[in-house]
Order: sequence, then C-alpha cells, then structure tokens
Amino acid sequence: MTPTHRLAGLAAIAASALLAAPAFAQAPQDPNLARNLAATCANCHGTNGQARGDIKPLAGVSADKMLAMLADYRSGAQPATIMHQIVKGYTEPQLQLIASFFAAQKPKQ
Ligand code: HEC
Repeated sequence: MTPTHRLAGLAAIAASALLAAPAFAQAPQDPNLARNLAATCANCHGTNGQARGDIKPLAGVSADKMLAMLADYRSGAQPATIMHQIVKGYTEPQLQLIASFFAAQKPKQ
C-alpha cells in the first residue's frame, strides 16, 4: 500500500465512523443503566439499597417518596451532611432511573 492509498483508507474509516455516529447516539438505552447508576449509592446505602447499621436503606422506598427527599436535599429544604452534594451530581432523568430501581428492590426483612 502506498502512503497515498493508506491515507485514502484512513479517510474512508474516518468517514464511516462519522456516518455511524448518529446511529450510535440513537441506540437504545443501556438496559443496565438504572442498576449502574444506583450502584453509585451502594458505598453508603448498601448493595441494592440494603443498608446495614445506621444508614437508611433505600430498597423498597417508593420512587415518588425518594424523588421528593432528593429534591429537598438539592434545594436545601432538608439539611444534610452529604446528600445535598451527592444529589447535585445527577440529572433529573438519572435520579428517576435510580429511584425506580430502588423502588423495585425488596426491602430486607
Ligand atoms: C457518601 C455516602 C453516601 C452516598 C454515596 C449516598 N448517600 Fe444517600 N445518604 C447518606 C447520608 C449520610 C444520609 C443522611 C443525610 C445526610 O446527612 O446527608 C443519606 C440519606 C439519603 C436519603 C434519605 C433517606 C431517608 O429515609 O431519610 C436518600 C433517599 C438517599 N440518601 C439517597 C441516595 C441515593 C439515591 C444515592 C446515590 C445516587 C445516595 N443516597 C448516595 C450518605 C450517602
């Protein structure tokens, strides 16, 4: 392959990557997205929201109730040591996914 041919080949690859990009953007949502987002809460609230010790469990909390609590942390209506900062790291659609995930978990007996 001459250098010119190689460049043409690279240009073709780059062009097909550009053409593929919009299709990728419209790909269906990752089916594990809610679980993966909720996993970022596990350090403190336990795996799948099954907290141990003093921290409040999230498993089985209704999505509406959790979103209301999170909104209060975000606005400052509910004073917090850490949650007011954590909640600001997520978009509203992400919080909805997280809340639905925890609502679907069975609380520990
Ligand atoms: C670094 C530890 C930590 C992480 C990570 C964390 N939380 Fe919290 N969470 C707390 C603490 C501590 C409280 C008690 C309020 C406070 O002091 O901030 C709390 C309280 C809550 C409450 C209120 C529970 C109740 O019944 O009063 C909800 C809801 C909540 N967290 C949801 C989440 C969600 C959703 C995530 C992940 C996006 C998350 N938390 C990640 C530490 C954490």
